[in-house]
Amino acid sequence: MLQIKQICKEYRTGSLVQKALDHVDLSFRDSEFVAILGPSGSGKTTLLNIIGGLDRYDSGDLIINGVSTKKYTDRDWDTYRNHTIGFIFQSYNLIPHQTILSNVELTLTVSGVSRAERRKRAVAALEEVGLGKHLHKLPSQLSGGQMQRVAIARALVNDPDVLLAD
Ligand SMILES: Nc1ncnc2c1ncn2[C@@H]1O[C@H](COP(=O)(O)OP(=O)(O)OP(=O)(O)O)[C@@H](O)[C@H]1O
Ligand SMILES: [Mg+2]
Repeated sequence: MLQIKQICKEYRTGSLVQKALDHVDLSFRDSEFVAILGPSGSGKTTLLNIIGGLDRYDSGDLIINGVSTKKYTDRDWDTYRNHTIGFIFQSYNLIPHQTILSNVELTLTVSGVSRAERRKRAVAALEEVGLGKHLHKLPSQLSGGQMQRVAIARALVNDPDVLLAD
């Protein structure tokens, strides 16, 4: 369902040019479980950000369900991120001043789900990861593993086709 063809991505900071992805080719089928291994700084997060539509490639192509993303508009990327992808960030990226329930509900706000349905699905997702008793806590009131599970619940609540876990 996803194909990566000859993807390149560089970061420029002042005079330093860092090649993060150098002509990467990869294909993912439906229902496939893939682990990407590599040393720290080798480009794993960069690759996942590109697959998840959070960052753009410099050259090459990402083909989603047979369609090239070279001509994707911002709106196409928004739809893809909101409906196809669930993303678990390496550093969780939870909103610190909101309860974990609100953190998970927020994903569904962007997807246009009704308030009652949002609440129901967010509670179910948090219960699924074993956090049913902690719904009204702030992220800072949780353990590291619990925060990580909030991030997992948030990525699953939309029932995405693709789950990216950094
Ligand atoms: N926003 C950025 N600006 C400049 N350089 C960056 C940026 N993000 C990443 N890099 C550089 O690109 C390279 C790849 O980084 P990336 O975060 O993809 O690595 P990683 O494989 O996820 O590492 P880790 O296992 O430590 O999470 C690194 O050398 C990093 O310093
Ligand atoms: Mg990383």
